[in-house]
Amino acid sequence: TRVLSVASECAPLVKTGGLADVVGALPGALAAEGCQMRVLLPGYRAVLDKAGDLRPVHDLPYLFGAQARVLAGQAAGLELYVIDAPHLYDRPGGPYMDEAGRDWDDNDLRFAALSFVAAVIADEGIDGWRPEVLHCHDWQAGFAPVYLQVRGAQERTGTVMTVHNIAFHGLTAADRLEPLGLPGRSFSTDGFEYYGDISALKAGLVFSDRLTTVSPTYARELMTPEFGHGLDGVLRTRRADLAGILNGIDDTVWNPAQDPHIAPYKQPRGKAKNRAALIEEMGLSDGEGPLCVVVSRLSEQKGLDLLLEALPALLEHGGRLALLGSGDRALEEAWLAAAETQEGVAVRIGYDEALSHRMFAGGDAVLVPSRFEPCGLTQLYGLRYGTVPVVARTGGLADTVIAANEAGLRAGVATGVLFRPDSEDALEEALTRTCALYRDEATWRQLRRNGMRHPVGWGPAAAEYAALYRSVARP
Ligand code: ADP
Ligand code: GLC
Repeated sequence: TRVLSVASECAPLVKTGGLADVVGALPGALAAEGCQMRVLLPGYRAVLDKAGDLRPVHDLPYLFGAQARVLAGQAAGLELYVIDAPHLYDRPGGPYMDEAGRDWDDNDLRFAALSFVAAVIADEGIDGWRPEVLHCHDWQAGFAPVYLQVRGAQERTGTVMTVHNIAFHGLTAADRLEPLGLPGRSFSTDGFEYYGDISALKAGLVFSDRLTTVSPTYARELMTPEFGHGLDGVLRTRRADLAGILNGIDDTVWNPAQDPHIAPYKQPRGKAKNRAALIEEMGLSDGEGPLCVVVSRLSEQKGLDLLLEALPALLEHGGRLALLGSGDRALEEAWLAAAETQEGVAVRIGYDEALSHRMFAGGDAVLVPSRFEPCGLTQLYGLRYGTVPVVARTGGLADTVIAANEAGLRAGVATGVLFRPDSEDALEEALTRTCALYRDEATWRQLRRNGMRHPVGWGPAAAEYAALYRSVARP
């Protein structure tokens, strides 16, 4: 099956979160299933710099304001199409925001362009290649099925929409219908209207053939008002077409036996060297308790405000905390202040891929106290690195960690600690419990060993996506 994956991020070319990891890993994983997948990306500066030699394969005389081109080539083992449209993408800053952290005010156009070009490629075929399926990721690709319809090409191309994070709807005002080239007839509650605005995410959810999200539990949660962010009703009507397919991780990049960033190890005891190095690097002193690590965006979703409050429960038992993250300014400052005032807490604000590897290798436990978590990847890295995940029981976290409760321990299958999300009390209890488990050396060793054996690769998900693509493909 020929599939064009349409996304605003793709590791290692451009990444702000797990979406990039997934988009970057799918083509390789799907190749083993006989799928030929190419990735369509906006030509941000960083992408054009990193992608190297790309050749022009298609001219677009007018793309929302000026002319543009589609470039093609290979980079980082991926078959890429990149939209070269300087008026939309050639700017400093990140994929969504300027250097001061403000959203670009033409984001609707920038990502409508991504969706539009996907529809052109599906309709006309370029470079001797026409996809049978468009795989659209999050709101940035939400209009692709709509533009397919506008071109009358929906009969020729299957569409799959994947929700990585429903908190972002890609909303824009109703008077943008015309500049975005969207059909007025679909601006209704059973189309892409969302309380008077235009929603790119809703467009994708309503007009794609099939919908997926990144874990089975999150698929169920999405259909509830608590987690659906106003789109639970839409998802309930599409229940029959919605599936949860659990993410994997790239097990060549995330392999403690061959990780160039760390002192490699195959057994949990090999972590000791990395642990000592991390304690030193973070300027911590060792304690009686576990060295806990957090690698995360700092946002409301991740529940790290709760962790700030619950910290004493960890420190009291001799635990230590090392956090690497960036995002919300107020949270960054609160964490820096915690590191100043509390012995046993070390904080690095910023984005640092290499340090993140050292943290997973050196930590005893990885904390993920999210309020909601579609899948989550850091608990999977934790499993692979023998770093015990301590996670909120929600979304993909609930699907990937086996609780060290009485039953789990007795059966000898436990891999981590789970607790009720969005509760400081529950988090405190979990931290206390983690410290107790850590003191019980035999149990802790078993948690680590079980974790390292837990399958976290892309195999099962790749088979599911391949079957899904086949079911919607229009050869
Ligand atoms: P989300 O996509 O919601 O941010 P995930 O757990 O799915 O959450 O993915 C986050 C990805 O970003 C992981 O690969 C994680 O290691 C990485 N990451 C997050 N913050 C940082 C950081 N400050 N430095 C390095 N890597 C980070
Ligand atoms: C989103 C989610 C995260 C998920 C990632 C990749 O950013 O917040 O839970 O792992 O997408 O699917």
